[in-house]
Amino acid sequence: MSNADFFDRAYADNGPKILNGFSRPVYHNLMGALYGHQFDKMGYGGMIRHTEAGMLYEWASEVPRGGTIVEIGCYGGLSTSYLVKGSEGRDVQIVSIDPFDSDLNVQAERTDGCVALEDKPNKELVAERMAGLGAGDRVTLIEGYSQEVVKDWDRAIDFLWIDGNHDQAYLDYTDWSPHLKVGGRIGFHDAHPRYGYPQVAEDVRKALDSDQWTRLEHVKSIICAVKAR
Ligand SMILES: C[S@@+](CC[C@H](N)C(=O)[O-])C[C@H]1O[C@@H](n2cnc3c(N)ncnc32)[C@H](O)[C@@H]1O
Repeated sequence: MSNADFFDRAYADNGPKILNGFSRPVYHNLMGALYGHQFDKMGYGGMIRHTEAGMLYEWASEVPRGGTIVEIGCYGGLSTSYLVKGSEGRDVQIVSIDPFDSDLNVQAERTDGCVALEDKPNKELVAERMAGLGAGDRVTLIEGYSQEVVKDWDRAIDFLWIDGNHDQAYLDYTDWSPHLKVGGRIGFHDAHPRYGYPQVAEDVRKALDSDQWTRLEHVKSIICAVKAR
């Protein structure tokens, strides 16, 4: 199936969601049931569904020993926690970027309006949650914006998870995907017109509808792919 066909099917309102030859939703539901209920979504103030969480865990488990995961958009650390658990025991580093509760006046100017600024989790709270998972120094939380952090970034990435400003998914893609290794995975949250945001869906289609990307996968609002070259 071409990437264009993949998007036509993944974004269709109805019809069979059978992508890549067999029913991935059955597999996604299984991963969700097995791994996607480890953390209290409400308690975290988290924003990912159980199937999405299960697949984040699964993709993190495929990152090679000593590899690097970058997350753009941490919020309270729900998705980060699944990345931590999935990559446990293999010395994988996770770098998660978010302005957290810093400088709310600046955030008010830059926000996409998708999260309330009044009660944003702070970095210390997320750090405590990570310590509670035994993540130790495997997780680095960066209080800042992806566009600034990338300017000094010089490490190869194995899994790039984009869930930051929903008006900037394409910008995050162009900034960060050059650092992704060939064979590494990119994933976008809210990348489905019905389960996420139409703008992100449009950006992700523009980004991934090319032969640079293979093994496309759709899990509720997530679209992910593997870098082919
Ligand atoms: C939808 S939330 C992330 C949810 C989180 N991944 C989870 O599973 O709970 C989006 C977050 O991205 C942050 N954000 C917005 N612009 C950003 C940027 N340029 N760089 C990093 N984070 C950003 C927002 O402040 C917000 O906390």
